[in-house]
Amino acid sequence: MNKKNCHIIDFPRINDPRGKLTFIEGNRHIPFSIRRTYWIYDVPGGEIRGGHAYRNNCEIIVAVSGSFDVLIDDGYGRQTFSLNRSYYGLYVPSRHWRELVNFSTNALCLVMASNDFSETDYIRSHDDFLLEVRDQYA
Ligand code: TYD
Repeated sequence: MNKKNCHIIDFPRINDPRGKLTFIEGNRHIPFSIRRTYWIYDVPGGEIRGGHAYRNNCEIIVAVSGSFDVLIDDGYGRQTFSLNRSYYGLYVPSRHWRELVNFSTNALCLVMASNDFSETDYIRSHDDFLLEVRDQYA
């Protein structure tokens, strides 16, 4: 499994006349053990979440309900991923700037993270992000 680049992961789906089921096991369906989960909901129309990168934390972002777009910047280029299926997850490695935009009404964004919460792991300035990421490859 590619651990360096941001990409969509297609999770297992169990179809059943009683309803569908999807599951994720850390280090099997995603490239890390799940240490923490959080979810973002009740996002007012037009609001933006994210707007930061992490130095070490990696995440899987899932649109469990509704839809939204994730803008990813690796320091050299930008890419947009549209999430609108509960069986797709976006793998976002550390050192990737992310913004979550275009939330639909009642969108539910579930995030699985590799690390405990740590404010010092955040890079909240895009200028600092570019300096840190580009410095890594200098
Ligand atoms: P933040 O990650 O900045 O939100 P977003 O990326 O969605 O815009 O987090 C918002 C606030 O919540 C910030 O004060 C930190 C706090 N927080 C925690 O205490 N624990 C957590 O696991 C997360 C993700 C955030």
